[in-house]
Amino acid sequence: ALRPQCHGAMAVFVTRRIPAEGLRALAQAGGCCIQLWDSEEPVPRAELLAGVAGKRGLLCLLSDRIDREVLDAAGPNLKVISTMSVGFDHLALDEIKKRGIRVGYTPDVLTDATAELSVALLLATCRRLPEAAEQVKSGGWTTWKPLWMCGYGLSDSTVGIIGLGRIGQAVARRLKPFGVNKFLYTGSRPKPESAVEFEAEFVPFMRLAEESDFVVVTCALTPATQGMCNKEFFSRMKKTAVFINTSRGAVVNQEDLYNALAQGQIAAAGLDVTTPEPLPTDHPLLSLKNCVVLPHIGSATYATRSTMAVLAADNLLAGLRGEPMPHELVL
Ligand code: NDP
Ligand code: DGY
Repeated sequence: ALRPQCHGAMAVFVTRRIPAEGLRALAQAGGCCIQLWDSEEPVPRAELLAGVAGKRGLLCLLSDRIDREVLDAAGPNLKVISTMSVGFDHLALDEIKKRGIRVGYTPDVLTDATAELSVALLLATCRRLPEAAEQVKSGGWTTWKPLWMCGYGLSDSTVGIIGLGRIGQAVARRLKPFGVNKFLYTGSRPKPESAVEFEAEFVPFMRLAEESDFVVVTCALTPATQGMCNKEFFSRMKKTAVFINTSRGAVVNQEDLYNALAQGQIAAAGLDVTTPEPLPTDHPLLSLKNCVVLPHIGSATYATRSTMAVLAADNLLAGLRGEPMPHELVL
């Protein structure tokens, strides 16, 4: 799957077949020598270590763990890392900073697609769409029954957003017209300038759990957020509440979530992200009717993925030329 070896001042390694528009942007940039892992599947670790050796630029995905080992394998030529993602928890930023490597990422361009998917997942979960559709196929739909397939609606509800960033705000903006009564949010600090549009109230984490009918996780994965949705958090939630995570799987303690769902401590959960990814098909969460799991498709529209690829290419090229990047992560 590997396209030709290349070396030199503009040599780059691209860790996956990305949308054609992104590859074209790289190919059309004069002098850029591209070594591509030309596959839909992730580059094996050994091939990643070999492919990055001596390169000046690396275009990677969120599924590539870029740690000290990769940076050592790359060697001192590596000057730019461009990730085709807004999340950067897969990058060892301390080590990258120490080596003076610049980092590009893809904020904003995927906000709408990810917020849309978050809302779709929330509605699918609270109105039990996968379960209901399955009943139609399996013959479980015998007649219209007053108490059958009931779920929870957004009208008059309280929605708690964990991480009112770009995507969190875009989710709130989309949910508001469904008749949400109150928005709550948590984060490292209050953000009145972002919250004003939704009259959202900054509350302590556990108060958000206690008062929300819907909890939507849209924060970044950091040491502070890792595992933060745990047993205590779920035990504080309402029995009728729905939990949605479109950030990173590791924000959630999945064993605690499983127990909360299985014991009816919360009503349902919708997850676009899990640990690990993919989630093994025999994972206990997949045995639950009240858990909807998607394969990390938040940004998966054709247009968004294409724009992300072009932005990742443009970030990489700007970094190689020593110019300002369209979106540089300030380290
Ligand atoms: P932003 O940086 O705009 O938002 C991240 C938010 O996380 C910030 O508002 C930040 O708040 C908040 N946050 C940080 N620490 C905490 C904390 N301790 N508790 C609660 N909130 C906290 O990023 P985006 O909105 O663009 O993206 C968010 C994340 O979504 C990405 O990092 C990525 O992991 C994920 N993502 C997933 C996708 C998918 O396909 N499912 C697609 C795209 C993104 P503060 O400023 O107060 O620290
Ligand atoms: C990201 O960009 O961080 C998402 O998880 C995938 O688009």
